[in-house]
Amino acid sequence: MGATAPSVVVSAPGKCILFGEHAVVYGQPAVAVALEQRLEVSMRPAGSWSIDGSALTAERHPHITMLRDTVLGAEAPPMALHVRGDIPSGSGLGSSAALSVAAAAGFLQTASSGPLDTAAIAHLAHLAEAGAQAGRASPMDTSTSAEGGVVVLSDQVEDDAKWLYTRTLPTPEGDRSWEIHALRPPEQAVHLVLGNTGIHAATSAQVAMVAKTLAAHPERMRDIEAIGAVARRGLRALMRGDYEAVGHAMTENHVLLRHLGVSSPELEALVRAAAPSSLGVKMTGAGGGGCMVALTLDPVATSQAIELAGGRVLVSSLLNAGVHIHDE
Ligand code: PMV
Repeated sequence: MGATAPSVVVSAPGKCILFGEHAVVYGQPAVAVALEQRLEVSMRPAGSWSIDGSALTAERHPHITMLRDTVLGAEAPPMALHVRGDIPSGSGLGSSAALSVAAAAGFLQTASSGPLDTAAIAHLAHLAEAGAQAGRASPMDTSTSAEGGVVVLSDQVEDDAKWLYTRTLPTPEGDRSWEIHALRPPEQAVHLVLGNTGIHAATSAQVAMVAKTLAAHPERMRDIEAIGAVARRGLRALMRGDYEAVGHAMTENHVLLRHLGVSSPELEALVRAAAPSSLGVKMTGAGGGGCMVALTLDPVATSQAIELAGGRVLVSSLLNAGVHIHDE
């Protein structure tokens, strides 16, 4: 190991949303879980800055260069970064946030080795994501990837979860704050099976569509509040380890999202296929494509059903580690 720029290998998980997508934009709580699928970044001293063999530039890698410049300074001894992992990109599973979290942790570790400060990592990664998305990123993906386990995000402190920290971000519409919490559900042999439609729908377009619906039909805000109520019920069921009730709440959340108009025929086909072998099933993330998630005791049967209906499958356990430094 060189004295000035040690090598470091860091990994961070992807995420999926169990409850509350879209409603979280209007202040309701959302519950996200870290996935088994992870992204790993290795950093080694080199002659020039690179990522996977090509030059690291602000135009092509705004998140990584922002994190490097903030943590190490642009004049830091150069390193070669390599990225690998099994989180599909562009599917709403948080691959971009996992990269920002792993890079933030790697740069912090390079600057001074010691125990990881997950709150600081989540903060830096959120700023990097927001910087690359015109200041509008929610901290859900970055906090879930940094903390691991089950994370609850809300506009208010939620009684049923352990409060971790407040994240505030200046946005083009003014300052926005989120309360970030952790949930520690009892461990059980349940699995998540994710079905990917392979269709990419932009989160911003889906969020804009909901905003348009609510502007035209203000009474539909009741649907948003109903999603919030289901999310709170789901998080209390998670805390008790009552996975039957968690599943019911997921299915109810899906019906409300479908009614809001953010599902798609392809998502519906995968949700229908997975339902008979699952405790609960719903679309996850912004919708219009992307992924659905099933909570199941029989991941083999649920995976086969989703594959038969044309989905690409990922299986994950429920309680996974957040950002982690690997021994070399
Ligand atoms: O598809 P994803 O994982 O990017 O989730 C978007 C979640 C929304 O609630 C639709 C938007 C948001 O910013 O919270």
